[in-house]
Amino acid sequence: MELMTPKEIVSELDKYIIGQDKAKRAVAVALRNRYRRSKLPESERVEITPKNILMKGPTGVGKTEIARRLAKLVKAPFVKVEATKYTEVGYVGRDVESMIRDLVETSIRLVKDEKFEEVKATATNNANKKIRDIMMKKRTSSKPTTTTNSVDKDTVEIVVEDKAKADAEDLLKQIESGKLDDEIIEMEVIDAPQAIEIIPGNQDTNISDMLSGFLPRRKKIRKISIAQARKNLVNEEASRLIDMDAVNEEGVRRAEQEGIIFIDEIDKIAIASGGRNGPDVSREGVQRDILPFVEGCTVSTKYGIIRTDYILFIAAGAFHIAKVEDLIPELQGRFPIRVELENLTAKEFYKILTQPKNAITKQQAELLKVDNIDLEFEEDALKEIARIAELENENNENIGARRLHTIIESLLEDISYEAGGNHPVSKVVISKEFVQRELEQTVKKYDISRYIM
Ligand SMILES: Nc1ncnc2c1ncn2[C@@H]1O[C@H](COP(=O)(O)OP(=O)(O)OP(=O)(O)O)[C@@H](O)[C@H]1O
Ligand SMILES: [Mg+2]
Repeated sequence: MELMTPKEIVSELDKYIIGQDKAKRAVAVALRNRYRRSKLPESERVEITPKNILMKGPTGVGKTEIARRLAKLVKAPFVKVEATKYTEVGYVGRDVESMIRDLVETSIRLVKDEKFEEVKATATNNANKKIRDIMMKKRTSSKPTTTTNSVDKDTVEIVVEDKAKADAEDLLKQIESGKLDDEIIEMEVIDAPQAIEIIPGNQDTNISDMLSGFLPRRKKIRKISIAQARKNLVNEEASRLIDMDAVNEEGVRRAEQEGIIFIDEIDKIAIASGGRNGPDVSREGVQRDILPFVEGCTVSTKYGIIRTDYILFIAAGAFHIAKVEDLIPELQGRFPIRVELENLTAKEFYKILTQPKNAITKQQAELLKVDNIDLEFEEDALKEIARIAELENENNENIGARRLHTIIESLLEDISYEAGGNHPVSKVVISKEFVQRELEQTVKKYDISRYIM
């Protein structure tokens, strides 16, 4: 596991998420604690289970974004699930256990990708050599063999051999350089067995997976490009070089020890005080279904048994209608770290527009660059957009930072439409006046409604 300190984690998160310091700190500390735990002797380690986090805050303020960035940062196996997609076992829907299986799958994919990177160079070398061999065979079999009588037979053979060797090396170089990628060769490829859907809609049973192992894999001679052949062969070579048993083992271990499960929309399965019938019954059922996994249990997957004790759970919800207290007490108790995310105002919006590495204004500029538009926002324009976003959130539904997306979209609609790329590079500067003109209707409506109220 990696070694970032909480401070370093927070400062990495700062590159993408504005404000929400408490939430960032909480997740950073939770992560560091897992690292700290991993350094303890086994006997002490087993006693320490992670403290799960409950993030509470209005929509569009960064809950999901924090979790997503965090997972990327630490390269931990991470899955995000929506609590609402589960309904009680026996009802329609996916059973809660599937989130653990998804985590294991993700974890194994992660390890596999790592291993693939390790063997990639070797696999590519082998693949290129195989392609060369296929091409050489074709050449020798199609060339008529000339017989030479006048010269000594031995020397001829040596010369031919040397020549062939040099040719082979030359050819390999060309294949490696990618110059021949579009050339077509004939090659044996394995036909992917037809996927059979045995139990429609049930992705959790591995029956079709299991069966595909038994189905005969037909080989076929196909004409394919060298680029495609290389892709196939690299995969084939890599799967020969990678010890899949070890990958699975490591995948399960990481899912158990480093896995993070983010349960979004947890408030939607809480039961608002008052009602305890109809759909509420099944919501409470989902909570009860989630409980054992959060408390620690074992789940059998096709990669073996996995313990859920040390998986870090981060739950998030707006909790507009239902309160945290409306969750069943056992579940509340399993999320001891509570962080509230703050409502975003014009000040944060301005920063969100400009600072994050993937800020929307930067993204839009990149996109339009493709069509020869050099887009620039003036300082004042950004401030105005931020102000309007806050106004709209106050007067309309509060959708947090998502408001910025809708505003930017409508602001750039015409420019996006007009840009065709078939003109010389043209600079487009978004000024405050432009923003006001484009968003006139919105601004007027809210500025006036302020006076009326
Ligand atoms: N504090 C922030 N800093 C930077 N970008 C943000 C921030 N908050 C939200 N965003 C951006 O707004 C969008 C929505 O954020 P996110 O998905 O995190 O919302 P959420 O809090 O999970 O809301 P919901 O309750 O609806 O799930 C994302 O594109 C995200 O990048
Ligand atoms: Mg979310």
